[in-house]
Amino acid sequence: MEDMTNVIEMRHIVKDFNGFKANNDINLTLRKGEILALLGENGAGKSTLMSILSGLIQPTSGTIKVREQKVNIKNPTIAKDLGIGMVHQHFMLMESFTVLENIILGHETTKGPKLDFKKAEKQIKTLSERYNLNVDPQKKISEITVAQQQRVEILKVLYRGADIMIFDEPTAVLTPQEITEFIQILHELAKEGKSIILITHKLEEIERAADRVTVIRAGQSVGTFAVANVDNNRLAELMVGRHVNMQVNKPTEKVGRTMLQVEDLHVKNKQNVAVVKGLSFNLHAGEILGVAGIDGNGQDELVRALTGLQHVDSGKIIIDGEDMTNRKVRQITEKGVSYIPADRQKYGLILPFSVSDNLALQTYYQEPFSRHNVMHYDVIHEHAQKLIKQFDIRTTSERMPVSDLSGGNQQKVIIARELSRNSNLVIAFQPTRGLDVGAIEYIHNQLLNERAQGKAILLISYELDEIMQLSDRIIVLHDGRISGEVKPENTSDEELGLLMTGVKKEGSAFA
Ligand SMILES: Nc1ncnc2c1ncn2[C@@H]1O[C@H](COP(=O)(O)OP(=O)(O)OP(=O)(O)O)[C@@H](O)[C@H]1O
Ligand SMILES: [Mg+2]
Repeated sequence: MEDMTNVIEMRHIVKDFNGFKANNDINLTLRKGEILALLGENGAGKSTLMSILSGLIQPTSGTIKVREQKVNIKNPTIAKDLGIGMVHQHFMLMESFTVLENIILGHETTKGPKLDFKKAEKQIKTLSERYNLNVDPQKKISEITVAQQQRVEILKVLYRGADIMIFDEPTAVLTPQEITEFIQILHELAKEGKSIILITHKLEEIERAADRVTVIRAGQSVGTFAVANVDNNRLAELMVGRHVNMQVNKPTEKVGRTMLQVEDLHVKNKQNVAVVKGLSFNLHAGEILGVAGIDGNGQDELVRALTGLQHVDSGKIIIDGEDMTNRKVRQITEKGVSYIPADRQKYGLILPFSVSDNLALQTYYQEPFSRHNVMHYDVIHEHAQKLIKQFDIRTTSERMPVSDLSGGNQQKVIIARELSRNSNLVIAFQPTRGLDVGAIEYIHNQLLNERAQGKAILLISYELDEIMQLSDRIIVLHDGRISGEVKPENTSDEELGLLMTGVKKEGSAFA
């Protein structure tokens, strides 16, 4: 039950990174048993503020009270002892360790000199049953889906006994179904008296989950509001500082030649199980083809096959008239394919490299970026400065390592690079994941611009809104096959939902 006691009070928090104030006088209070949303543009300072609360970084100035006691959270151990746990924006799990090992890492139960795995496993089982967090403790992290990894992160925080829980964009990696389950878990936790801070860019999630919302902009507090008293348009305006148009205006375009032809494609996943089971479709210049579907129905493997990351068992991939089946990544790139991957840190960026270098990742060996094997750094930097401006990438310098950018701004680096490159085919997998509403508006318009210029765009997304608003045609994947093809103007969320669960479309060519 919500009461008015503050469990957290952050006052006048400032965090200076070499002269740049990522937090510049922020106030935040969290009440016992409430769900507080923290909202702000990409780069506004949300993750920084929460890293301060969880002891990962130290504030330059400001005070923090936990349960009305002034504290100095010098390190994560102190945060843990204060009952503060955080699920980070980019997960911090060991891929080759099991779920169980990851959960107990740093908080091991021992029996004499030995680890007591049995006891730990029992505790974890109790926790996962209580909160409906089904994960197999014996599976390796590399074998489970992102949604399951999310649950592992939650279990980790629960196992450590946290009663103040921070979630940094937990839903960015979840599908709509998983989001609903996740919000239920949050309500469950709050009901038991846990106090929760939730960072999300999705305004309708704030409406569904949170009691109050604290808005910050450019490192400063804008205000805190009862969710019942502010609507989404107002929230968007408060956070971006201008009106945001959340409806896309899509003009009709004439389609051109076939840019992508997929014929009876069969692909296996990393565990050698067939997951793409005979896909056929085509995509034309000047067209956006949406691929809808529930996560895990062949999307990953389709994209990996198209981009040369995964071997094709049988079938064909023809790009702009040329058979590109089982070609190398670079050959496919040079054929004119841009790729915005779903996992930005794993496949989209080289984190320790500068923003400049990341913006030239596929083109650094070509003119004008280099000549006769000599890199032209002035050209690379200039190119970066142009894109930083054009795509509103929030960074103090193009020389900054991309790892120091906020999550959403890392995403903008990838999009800027891929859309500015000379390509005919854009494969966009969850392109607006983790972006704020203002940035989404901009990226959607960019994709429509690309379409107007005659590019072909394959848009794979779990956001039905995004698919419905941008696509000219939509194919729905179910169990590695197409369960239906529809046009957004002639379908509904309900019909798409049915197709996504495998109910075939009547009269469909694929039925
Ligand atoms: N270690 C660092 N060194 C320099 N600047 C940093 C560092 N960490 C963060 N910043 C900067 O601080 C600002 C705030 O970043 P933060 O990650 O807190 O944003 P955010 O609100 O979480 O954004 P997003 O929604 O994109 O995740 C950004 O401009 C970022 O580049
Ligand atoms: Mg962040």
